[in-house]
Amino acid sequence: MSLETIVGNIKIRNPLILASGVLGSSYSVLQRIYEAGIGAVVTKSVGPVSREGNPNPSIFALKDINGAINSIGLANPGYKHFRDEIKILLENNVQTIVSIFGGDVEEFNEVLVGLSDLSITAFELNLSCPNTEKEGMVLGTDPQIVRRIVENLRKKTESPIWVKLTPNVTDILEIADAAIKGGCDALVAINTLKAMVIDIYSRHPILGFKRGGLSGSPIKPVGIRNIFDLYEQFGEKIPLVGVGGIAKWEDVFEYILAGASAVQIGTALGIAHPENKIRHIKNNIQKFMKNEGIEKIANIIGGAHR
Ligand code: FUM
Repeated sequence: MSLETIVGNIKIRNPLILASGVLGSSYSVLQRIYEAGIGAVVTKSVGPVSREGNPNPSIFALKDINGAINSIGLANPGYKHFRDEIKILLENNVQTIVSIFGGDVEEFNEVLVGLSDLSITAFELNLSCPNTEKEGMVLGTDPQIVRRIVENLRKKTESPIWVKLTPNVTDILEIADAAIKGGCDALVAINTLKAMVIDIYSRHPILGFKRGGLSGSPIKPVGIRNIFDLYEQFGEKIPLVGVGGIAKWEDVFEYILAGASAVQIGTALGIAHPENKIRHIKNNIQKFMKNEGIEKIANIIGGAHR
């Protein structure tokens, strides 16, 4: 029985990937979660210069629905300071996908080129963060901009390029098509849904930035629908990585059957003890595969379309 999966030309020892941002960007935490058995890790998004992000509170747990709303605002140390953390992860053989962002083509170029001497597993382009005025979703909702950014970066690196898509568009297929035409190697769907929370006593928005992005269990059906639609449209032309609301081993299979070759887990690892959660999900995946007679994960990708 094999849990191994392939995304483009990257072999990953199992389909579970740590989603960007959830456990920060310090190498020791990312390494710990890798040692607990996750297939690969995605770093917090890193940009051209260090930035503080949005005012606090920047995250709000929605305990009753197993979700969260965040508005971190792409806080990060800047790629020059982050290089050393990435280097240690790579030296320790951690499959590391580096999430990068920029406000335009030039900024994206600067970050990617500044890291391209490291043997990074893949770059994940954050074209989907809903919490800034200049980066992320602002760019990722325009197919022409998406294509231009991906096309430019494609010329600058041989490392795989993944594009993380926002669900906050009328037609995700149009954006996906632009990213594919630009030359990306995989699509990651979905980032958070635009959302907000208001305190009824103070009568003010709770988050410092007022608005944020919803993650966790409530968005899982939205993620499944988007992966299903993307797979139906593009089939095996482009590998898909499913993300959004994965908290249980059953969710992993649901995404794979919808068409994902791998999945990213985020909010659930921020809430629970992450190492235990990973071990639990992995063990149950193995049990289910055994019971169902599934020899390879790859055999059931897109199974819900057949
Ligand atoms: O606010 C944030 O830093 C969120 C980023 C993202 O959703 O990609």
